[in-house]
Amino acid sequence: MSTIIITGGAGFIGSHVVRRFVQNHPESRIINLDALTYAGNLENLLDVQDAPNYQFERVDIRDASAVEASFAKYQPDAIIHLAAESHVDRSITDPMAFVQTNVLGTMNLLNAARNIWSGQMEGKRFYHISTDEVFGALGAEGYFTEETAYSPNSPYSASKASSDHFVRAYHETYGLPIVISNCSNNYGPNHFPEKLIPLMIHNILEGKSLPVYGDGKYTRDWLYVEDHASAIEAVYLQGQIGETYCIGGWNEWKNIDLVRLLCDLMDSKLGHSQGTSQKLITFVKDRPGHDLRYAIDASRIHQELGWKPAETFETGLAKTIDWYLSNEAWLHSVTSGAYQAYYEKQYASA
Ligand code: NAD
Ligand code: TYD
Repeated sequence: MSTIIITGGAGFIGSHVVRRFVQNHPESRIINLDALTYAGNLENLLDVQDAPNYQFERVDIRDASAVEASFAKYQPDAIIHLAAESHVDRSITDPMAFVQTNVLGTMNLLNAARNIWSGQMEGKRFYHISTDEVFGALGAEGYFTEETAYSPNSPYSASKASSDHFVRAYHETYGLPIVISNCSNNYGPNHFPEKLIPLMIHNILEGKSLPVYGDGKYTRDWLYVEDHASAIEAVYLQGQIGETYCIGGWNEWKNIDLVRLLCDLMDSKLGHSQGTSQKLITFVKDRPGHDLRYAIDASRIHQELGWKPAETFETGLAKTIDWYLSNEAWLHSVTSGAYQAYYEKQYASA
């Protein structure tokens, strides 16, 4: 039986990846290593928590000896590394937290993998999950590809870029069998409501203002989270060692158009007259260093690994909204306490 350690498995994307691997790979033991920060929630995994091939271990990847101990205990054949501080706005107020988890935490995992696989790298795999934000901002034209030079603009993307570089360097220098993927913005169930789509759904439900940064013309490429999980499975199973893969949804939206669409969809679902939620839209001060546009050319993963998204934006958004409407208890539990303090500080002048 092979053993796969998935880090950050209690978070948004990680929980979908854990579920997919637990269900699709009964021949593998799936170990979820997560510190359970504000963004980690074991409720995301209630449906698989008793599966015979699943185990949770609370580990902070900033703690090198805890990482070494869990690698010694589980003797993993593969690592799928998602644990990270992931929110750009938080990286602007507390950049060091991003260095500690995203850079130093990744280093601890690389060192532990190198130690445990020393002299026997054959068949092993260290899969690092990254973001398209490492490439910086696009203008109105063009796409990010695997050849695009790194040019990160936020402390978040700088920390992710740094970790990507160390992962590559451990392959070149020590022969660590790595693979990296860089994905566009995800959306879907279990998304923490500090990010654009769940924040807007939450605020529409609460009748609160919908804060759109700057002029709202910033553009993102959105991918349904389960499609990212299926891409991760494809790269895990078939990706070439030492290579990177760009993952995207071929689905670009200006923020303001997306927020208006969400308002209209929510009005229909809630039985409100059209236009009700759009009245809540408020333009607020811009994010510093705000990247104008992200867009991925995902041809390589499509052509080489046969991956493409299963959901359209229409079906993915409908599933997402339905999930939030049927899981208001989850939404309330994650938006109480510390989240309230964060929200008041972040949107103080909104
Ligand atoms: P998230 O913030 O929802 O979850 C992060 C998880 O990591 C949480 O479970 C948290 O408890 C855990 N974690 C944080 N610090 C930790 C530490 N020090 N030790 C152990 N666990 C820790 O993040 P997400 O949106 O699910 O993103 C997962 C990964 O995918 C990240 O590496 C992120 O950079 C990348 N990514 C995200 C997106 C996106 O749109 N969300 C897009 C592309 C790539
Ligand atoms: P976000 O979900 O934070 O993802 P990222 O910054 O990683 O792309 O933000 C998506 C876009 O939405 C980004 O251009 C910033 C914008 N945004 C707002 O306009 N208002 C908000 O309250 C938030 C959280 C984001």
